[in-house]
Amino acid sequence: MSTDTVTIIDDATGKKVQLPLLTPTSGPKTIDIGALYKELGYFTYDPGFMSTASCTSAITFLDGQKGILQYRGYPIDQLAEHSSYLEVCYLLINGDLPNKQELEEFVSGITNHTMLHEALKRFFSGFRRDAHPMAIMVGVVGALAAFYHEHMDIHNPEHRLITAHRLIAKMPTIAAWSYRYAMGKPFVYPVNSLSYTENFLHMMYSMPTEEYTPNPLLAKALDLILILHADHEQNASTATVRLAGSSDANPFAAVAAGIAALWGPAHGGANEAVIRMLMDINESGKPLQAFVDRAKDKNDSFRLMGFGHRVYKNYDPRATLIRKICHQLLNDMESTGEQKKLLETAMALEKVALEDEYFVQRNLYPNVDFYSGIIFLAMGIPMNMFTVIFAMARTVGWITQWNEMQSEGKLRIGRPRQLYVGLIDLEYVPINKRK
Ligand code: CMC
Repeated sequence: MSTDTVTIIDDATGKKVQLPLLTPTSGPKTIDIGALYKELGYFTYDPGFMSTASCTSAITFLDGQKGILQYRGYPIDQLAEHSSYLEVCYLLINGDLPNKQELEEFVSGITNHTMLHEALKRFFSGFRRDAHPMAIMVGVVGALAAFYHEHMDIHNPEHRLITAHRLIAKMPTIAAWSYRYAMGKPFVYPVNSLSYTENFLHMMYSMPTEEYTPNPLLAKALDLILILHADHEQNASTATVRLAGSSDANPFAAVAAGIAALWGPAHGGANEAVIRMLMDINESGKPLQAFVDRAKDKNDSFRLMGFGHRVYKNYDPRATLIRKICHQLLNDMESTGEQKKLLETAMALEKVALEDEYFVQRNLYPNVDFYSGIIFLAMGIPMNMFTVIFAMARTVGWITQWNEMQSEGKLRIGRPRQLYVGLIDLEYVPINKRK
C-alpha cells in the first residue's frame, strides 16, 4: 500500500493535519483517520458506515458500480461454474484453490466434524415447537461456545483452523435439526458417504422408516447457492462477528451474534420476505404498479424486498446467477404451478421496477435474495428455513473474516464513539420534588 496523504484544514483554527491515504489493490483510496482526534480533537460521523472502511481484508472484493464480486481474486461466476462449496470454503480459509490432495483432506476433515455433541441435542427441546429456526440457530450456535471454550486458544492458528472446520461441518446439522424439531420429526444423523449438500438434504428430509436418496439436481443447485452466499466482505453480519470477536470473545459466540444480525429483513431475512411479498401480490390481484408505487411512497414503510443494495449500484452478480439457476431448476424439476407463478410475478415485478424512474435514479436492482427464495421453494424448503440456509453458507465467510482479524496481530477492541446530543450537567432532583 502506497501512502500519499490528505491534508485536513480546520477552518476555525487554521490547524492542519496530514492523514495517510491508503491505496488498496482495487477499490477507492482510503483515508486513515486514526490521528484525527489526537491532532484536531474531532471525531468523524458516518452512521451506517456509508464511507467507512472498518478493516483491511484480503478475502472478498466487491465493485458495486461494475457489479463485480471476487473471492480471493477469483470471479464469482467462474467459481459458480467450476467449483464446489467446500472447495470455495478451502479457498476462502486458505487464500488459494487447493490441489487434489488438499481438497480431499479438507473434505474429509469437514466430513468428520459433522456430528454434534449428544448433550447439544437437548438444547433443541428447550425451544417452543413454533420457534423460528433462526432463533434456534442463534441459540444452538452460541451454545457451541460451551462445548469448545476451556481448551481453545484463539491466539493459536491451529485452534482457529479447527474452529472454522467445526463450524462449517456442524452448521448443516444444526440447520436441519432446527427444522426437524419444529416439525416434530426425529433428528437424523449425518452420513459420511454423502456430499455436503446431499447430507443436508438427507438430514432435512429422510425418515427412519424409509429409504431416502437426495436428488442430485437439488444437491447441485443448493451447492451453487451456498457458493454465492459464502462471503460478501464487511456486510452487517460479518461486521458484527468482527466487532463481537474484537473483544477476544469465543468465536462460536461471535458467529451467533452474526447470525442474529443476518436474520433481519434488511439483510439475510430478505429472501423469506421476498416470497411473502410475491405471495401477497399474487393473492391481492392488484397490478404490480400498485406495489411499486407503495415502495416509492415515503409515508409507507413498504419496500420492494430483494431490491437495492448498499454496495451494488448495478445488477447484483449473484442475482444474475441465481436467476439462471432458478429458471433451470423450475424447468428440470416438477415445479408446481404456484412456484412458476411466483417466478413469473418476480420477473414481471423486476421489469416494472427497472423501468420506473424512482428505481432508475436510485440504482435499485434485484439483489441476491430476489430469486433465491423461489429456488428454495422449488426445493421444497419451507420459508422459515431460507435465512437459515443463508447463515449456513455465510458461516465460512464469518469465521474466515474472524480468523483474518485475529491473525493480523494488531487487533484492537472495536469501540466506536458517538455524537452526543442529549442533556448534560443536570442537578439531581429528589423524587418528592419532581413534577
Ligand atoms: N424499495 C424501495 N425503495 C428503496 C429500496 C427498496 N427495496 N431500497 C432502497 N430504496 C430507496 C430508499 O428509500 C432511499 O430513497 P431516498 O434516497 O429517496 O431516501 C434510497 O433508495 C437509498 O436507500 P437506502 O435505504 O438509503 O440504502 P441502504 O444502502 O441504506 O439500504 C438496503 C440497502 C438493502 C437495506 C435497502 O435497499 C433495502 O431495504 N432493500 C430491501 C431489503 C433487501 O432486499 N435486503 C437484502 C439486501 S442484499 C442481501 C443481504 O444483505 O443479505
